[in-house]
Order: sequence, then structure tokens, then C-alpha cells
Amino acid sequence: MITLKDVKINFGNFKKPTLDIPFLQIGNNVKLAVTGISGSGKTTLINILCGLENIDSGSILWDNTALHSLNQMQKDRFRGENVGLIMQDFHLYNGLGVLQNVLLPSKLRYCKIPEIIAKRALYLLERLNIHQYLQNIDTLSRGEKQRVAIARALVNAPKIIMADEPTASLDKENGKEAVNLLISLAAEFKAALICTTHDRALIDKMSYCLELEKGKKVEASFL
Ligand SMILES: Nc1ncnc2c1ncn2[C@@H]1O[C@H](COP(=O)(O)OP(=O)(O)O)[C@@H](O)[C@H]1O
Ligand SMILES: [Mg+2]
Repeated sequence: MITLKDVKINFGNFKKPTLDIPFLQIGNNVKLAVTGISGSGKTTLINILCGLENIDSGSILWDNTALHSLNQMQKDRFRGENVGLIMQDFHLYNGLGVLQNVLLPSKLRYCKIPEIIAKRALYLLERLNIHQYLQNIDTLSRGEKQRVAIARALVNAPKIIMADEPTASLDKENGKEAVNLLISLAAEFKAALICTTHDRALIDKMSYCLELEKGKKVEASFL
């Protein structure tokens, strides 16, 4: 369970903060859509939830862990252990192969990749219908790249998956496939799922929807 209280972040010392969330609770196993027009603060919300961005005031509790009071190294480690992050435009490493991309975060974390993680990587790629393990990332289609990014996000069996506009750069068919896989893998791994999105089809598949406007919660509803 993640609890945000009086969270504010102001990037430019503007009069109004970029993000201003008095209270938000995100339960275990929730499927949350975060919507709102471009610039409303969706990516910023994802970034503060996973400790990529610091808040100026307030608190972010992950169960009993006060994320806001960890130092950057601790935050990075916490994120590596608990969050599967799927960023906009994939953030994959060109020049590396498919499997190398999926295993790269684990390689940075462990001296030797544990067998369970190597096996999970192969399982995930199989489930995501990617069979060309050694193929260079640059030569994959956008749909395939997104599926590799999903495999990488899940390889550590995170408690929560956060995907920033996972269908925005895909065509309808690939978007649909990515979403179906994301949702079924989140259920299989018993992970919560947060997706920022404008995609009505994706929103309809989530259990809860939060709308942001100028960094504030304007609407929250069960679906
Ligand atoms: N690192 C940053 N420095 C300064 N301003 C930023 C930074 N990141 C985001 N912003 C600003 O914060 C606002 C919210 O951005 P963002 O969270 O990316 O919105 P969304 O994802 O909903 O499009 C925008 O006005 C954006 O320009
Ligand atoms: Mg964004």
C-alpha cells in the first residue's frame, strides 16, 4: 500500500506547484489508470511514486518505508527491488540484444545473475511472444520493443508495475496486445499496475481511474 500525504513538487518555483496531492492511497493489487491532458503531471506522479523524482514537501509511504526520506542510492535500490518501470519510449539500450536488455538491471544489481531471474527472463519473453533473444534491439518493431520493456519490468517480480503511456506510441493492434499482456502478467505476478494513459480502451480495463488537471486530482472513480 502506498500512501501520499500533502505531496507537493514545484519544478519552476511557480505560484502553483507542478503536483499537489493532499491525499492518495494506492492499494495492493490495484489496477489504476492516471489520466489528464498533456502537462497535467502524470509522468511526474509516476516519477515521485517510484523515487525517480524528489518531492518538495509531504510524505510518500510504501507500507512502513518512508520513500521521501531515503537518499538517492537507497531510493534507486528500493525501486529496483519493488517497482517494474515501463517508461515512455521504452528506454531500451540500442546495440544490446533482447535478452541482454531484459537482464541488464539484474546484471547491475547482482555480480552473478541468479538462476531464478535468468529463467524468469526466458519465461517472460516466451509469454510475450518474443523469440529472437539475441537480436539487436534497434532492429525490433515498436510493438516488439514495448514487449521487451514489459519483460524487463517484470523480471524481478516487482510488487508494482508502473507504465507511462504504454500504448501511446503503438498502433491500435500492438497497443491492445501490450495492454492485454500487461494486465494478465500483473495478475499472474500478483503485482499492482499503474498506467498513465489517454487510451479509453486501456482505462476501461483498469479498476480505478484518477484524473489530474494542472497537478491536482480532479476526479477519482471506480470503474
Ligand atoms: N524536470 C522538470 N523540470 C521542469 N519542469 C518539468 C520537469 N518535468 C516536468 N515538468 C513540467 O511539469 C508539468 C507536468 O509534466 P508531466 O508530469 O510530464 O505531465 P504529463 O505526463 O501529464 O504530460 C509540465 O508543465 C512540465 O513542463
Ligand atoms: Mg507524461
